Amino acid sequence: MNTKTTVISEAQLQQQFAFCDKIAAFWQQENATPTAYVETYGCQQNEADSEKLRGYLTQSGYAIVNEAEGADVVIMNTCAIREHAEQRVFGNLGALTHTKRRHPRQKIFLCGCMAGETAVSDRIKKSYPHVDGVFSTHHLWQFPEILWNVLNKKKRQFYVADEPGSIAEGIPQVRDSKLKAWVSIMYGCNNFCTYCIVPYVRGRERSRQPEDILNECRLCIEAGAKEITLLGQNVNSYGKDLGCGMDFADLLAAIAQLPGEFLIRFMTSHPRDASEKLFDTMAKYDKIAKQLHLPFQSGSSRVLKAMNRHYDRETYLKKVSYAKSVMPDLVLTSDVIVGFPGETEEEFEETISLIQQVHYDSLFTFIFSPRIGTPAASMEDPTPKEEKSRRFDRLCAVQNSISVEIHDAYIGKTMRCLVDGMDKELLTARTEGGRLVRFPGSESLIGTYQNITITGATTWSLTGTQV
Ligand code: SAH
Ligand code: SF4
Ligand code: F3S
Repeated sequence: MNTKTTVISEAQLQQQFAFCDKIAAFWQQENATPTAYVETYGCQQNEADSEKLRGYLTQSGYAIVNEAEGADVVIMNTCAIREHAEQRVFGNLGALTHTKRRHPRQKIFLCGCMAGETAVSDRIKKSYPHVDGVFSTHHLWQFPEILWNVLNKKKRQFYVADEPGSIAEGIPQVRDSKLKAWVSIMYGCNNFCTYCIVPYVRGRERSRQPEDILNECRLCIEAGAKEITLLGQNVNSYGKDLGCGMDFADLLAAIAQLPGEFLIRFMTSHPRDASEKLFDTMAKYDKIAKQLHLPFQSGSSRVLKAMNRHYDRETYLKKVSYAKSVMPDLVLTSDVIVGFPGETEEEFEETISLIQQVHYDSLFTFIFSPRIGTPAASMEDPTPKEEKSRRFDRLCAVQNSISVEIHDAYIGKTMRCLVDGMDKELLTARTEGGRLVRFPGSESLIGTYQNITITGATTWSLTGTQV
């Protein structure tokens, strides 16, 4: 199989823009302003992809709306990470038969990670005739062509051929937020953790050129972004495929030296490739948030090996302790999987003890979900469901009490926070470490940094008053 990254040329992109023009002309002829709704599931990579879909749609004359009812185009940008996520999508997709019945010219598309699974595209072909098109993440750059084919040829479109992956620069984006910008620095994943479907649906690891990333960051900052979140499944392996001598820490340092008032965040870091150089770079620049999401998945070295994670408990703990030593205020979060096939009670207890030892600010907790085609799906898994739920509940209780303890310690401190919105009459803001703070104040403060004294805390958020 060809494993080389395809770079989408300027000419190929111009062809797509020509399809945008044709679509816009089609609607002008109809004398109508068409509308489009994009529903996003899953992680920030999908959020970033949806911004590109909205970019293409806007360029094709569509107005973006917030619900499927009555929209001329509905796109479901899906996540395949767990079975539950997929069931939700199939449920919502089924419900679209009704919106389409009420609005027969509605065109429905499914894209994102689920579209990369043959079983899913086959099922849609057979059992969901109201879906007009399916395209995997590899084909997102061809969306105008797909949409035009649906409108013009009136035939269903399936762009699901598997590929190692491509990079397309210059797709227009309509960003969700002016304040906070997602910037993908790389796509795909080469790690093949045995439980995970991502490498199968998003292809091989490929990095964008540093100049392209720096330019995008510069433009976002000039347009008023105060937070830039760099995205990749494993940002720490950035640049390995470029051979230009730049690694992730170098890239961070280069972005941190751009002019302007902003903070850089990034996700996700794979512990194997998280280096002392990375932590030193984070510590060195004020513009890099002292926040690290470092998924450990399990506290047992045996389970980590079965997961193909390429680090053990001791190495993970060493890295965390180095990071904390150079960044004493570091906010540390993580992902953990409970009930991996064959996980014993003792191994689960090792996960608990790791959590207690590291003292995470918060955790994203998951029960193992077998994904067809991944090695873990065919591993022997004798632990009953109820037992896994019990372990899951215990783990959540342990973490919640740590989160409360850490949050309580904020009370009385004054922190510089970016005010990012309003929720039920209180302003919302984020600390440098990404913690949510609510406080009373005027809407005009949104988009500014404010010093806030923390006066209260719960498991999930903080409350405060403006200094
Ligand atoms: N690239 C990131 C993770 C992306 S997926 C990383 O390696 O850290 C986000 C999280 O979903 C993973 O960290 C893992 O904890 C969880 N996850 C992935 N596959 C899963 C599965 N099959 N069952 C349960 N949780 C899973
Ligand atoms: Fe999945 Fe592992 Fe890649 Fe993360 S690093 S996306 S968990 S295979
Ligand atoms: Fe889901 Fe795909 Fe992200 S599977 S978690 S949307 S990379």
